[in-house]
Amino acid sequence: MRQHVKIGKSIEEAIACLNASDVVGIPTETVYGLAGNALDEKAVSRIFSVKNRPTFDPLIVHISSLEKAAPLVQYIPEAAIKLANAFWPGPLTLLLPRTLLIPDLVTSGSDRVALRVPNHPLTLELLQQLPYPLAAPSANPFGYISPTMATHVAQQLGNEVCYILDGGPCQIGIESTIVGFENNKTVVYRLGGIALEELETVAGPLTVLPHSTSNPQAPGMLQSHYAPRKPMLVGDLDKMMEQYNTNDIAILAFKTPHPSVPASQQRLLSAQGHMEEAARNLFAAMRQLDEMDVKYILAEWAPDHGLGRAINDRLRRASVQP
Ligand code: TXA
Ligand code: MG
Repeated sequence: MRQHVKIGKSIEEAIACLNASDVVGIPTETVYGLAGNALDEKAVSRIFSVKNRPTFDPLIVHISSLEKAAPLVQYIPEAAIKLANAFWPGPLTLLLPRTLLIPDLVTSGSDRVALRVPNHPLTLELLQQLPYPLAAPSANPFGYISPTMATHVAQQLGNEVCYILDGGPCQIGIESTIVGFENNKTVVYRLGGIALEELETVAGPLTVLPHSTSNPQAPGMLQSHYAPRKPMLVGDLDKMMEQYNTNDIAILAFKTPHPSVPASQQRLLSAQGHMEEAARNLFAAMRQLDEMDVKYILAEWAPDHGLGRAINDRLRRASVQP
């Protein structure tokens, strides 16, 4: 345990921590990451222990540009180059055949490594200055809601990290879309910050497998993820409310507040119904509702298109069955 968590914008302080095999909270456009030297097993083990994350759940490796992938991967399929050129830096993670430079612990023994170039000026600057890539899962305790502000990281992991690089609130707000290539097919393993419609304009037809539990290598597929401590139920608000006392519930509405619940017990994702704004607000809103003095969180689905699909995926995983 450390006495004072250090939050700031100093790339030098972040580098000093990373060079000492320690972990640092870093901003990205999706969510904050808990970063360590991806080539240093000591740093990577520290990431797993700080997050209390099982070692069978592999980590994403962050680099500053596609060129930096060369020593980490055996080859890059044409389809991956096209996607990287279109979406990097950005909320896209590519699963590629790895070299042995990457420790087994990072990929949980898989022969593929997850690579991403995050789109945040501070973190890109940090990655450019480092001679190694950064392994970084989201900077939340395993299973809890992902952090979209530096204070979220400080509240939960503040005592465990060497430094938090404060890059302001995350602009996308949900994790990257994870894509891999199998038998000449482009496969989406996790819905995320790039909408399927957008991905398809570059990749062509997609195979979407985000709910596969049969494949032990399937990323982000663990149930009960992104979850508040309070039970959260998702569905038709009117119907769900018949079963609960108004005092016991907080509401996560998409754009319209529920008329029979006080405003103080509600959060709206986007009053204008903008999907990007809704995604940006999702995790912070869930945290606020989780801190309210109520017993349950009731949420409604977002429209199921664009980023709404990724929002609904997170709501599904965060919720309990009614
Ligand atoms: O937007 C994001 O992707 C954020 C920021 C920090 O970059 N990171 C993130 O990491 O969401 P994490 O660890 O919370 O989720 C990464 C997912 C995991 O569920 C893991 O299963 C999958 O990516 N993954 C990582 N490496 C993999 C690999 N080699 N093969 C299959 N899945 C992998
Ligand atoms: Mg995560």
